[in-house]
Amino acid sequence: MVKINHLGIIVDGNGRWAKEKGLSRSEGHKAGAEALRKIILYLSHEKLVNYLSLYVFSTENFARPEEEVNYLMDLFLKWFTTVKKEYRKENIKIYFSGRKEYLKPNIIEAMDTLERETENNDGLVVNFCLSYGGRAEIVDATKTIVKKVQNNEISFDDINEDLFSKNLSHNLPDVDFLIRTSGEQRISNFMLWQISYAELYFPKVYFPDFDPEELEKAFQEYESRDRRFGKVK
Ligand code: IPE
Ligand code: IPE
Ligand code: MG
Repeated sequence: MVKINHLGIIVDGNGRWAKEKGLSRSEGHKAGAEALRKIILYLSHEKLVNYLSLYVFSTENFARPEEEVNYLMDLFLKWFTTVKKEYRKENIKIYFSGRKEYLKPNIIEAMDTLERETENNDGLVVNFCLSYGGRAEIVDATKTIVKKVQNNEISFDDINEDLFSKNLSHNLPDVDFLIRTSGEQRISNFMLWQISYAELYFPKVYFPDFDPEELEKAFQEYESRDRRFGKVK
């Protein structure tokens, strides 16, 4: 299979998956988390991507019922505290993108610990977009750049696309392939800057059913795309 430098996944359809099975939304999220765990390990073992960005909770998702938000936060907390050992063994490096200040202190602490404990790993980079919004990330980068100009660290004329990218969270490369499960065909504020030339793919499958076989189909789809970047071939 072809290697993808930066793969983005918008995790979607947990609620509908559960509803179709007569289960609660929480059970959908639990199944989604298990599917995600398997996908990460598969991508790491098979060395199919260098960077993996996962949209798991948007700033807009805070507007969901309190019970659901709390369930998801507990799920994240458990996840981040239990995978530490596994990720160290797998050589996975973890990043978080998003507004940490909207999260509870215990989650922030678990996130910081995981980032710190995997910072020297040089395998798959997994970037969890949690409490994340693409526009907010662009605004934050703009503020950082303005401050650098004000402090005379850079000049106004230094500002270009490359510099802008470097001031987004973690200076990640552009997304090459973006998968959104569940059949929804929208971006919902995900990595707006980084997806400018990404190939988009919207499989109908709900995320809890998104397994390595589905991923293989996705890779085949990516391989069939003709990426021209505005040029003529
Ligand atoms: C994705 O599943 C998980 C999160 C956004 C946290 P949803 O919860 O959006 O599932 P649907 O869209 O209601 O099916
Ligand atoms: C987008 O999914 C956010 C994440 C996947 C984390 P939603 O399910 O919240 O998006 P909309 O509201 O349907 O666009
Ligand atoms: Mg959804």
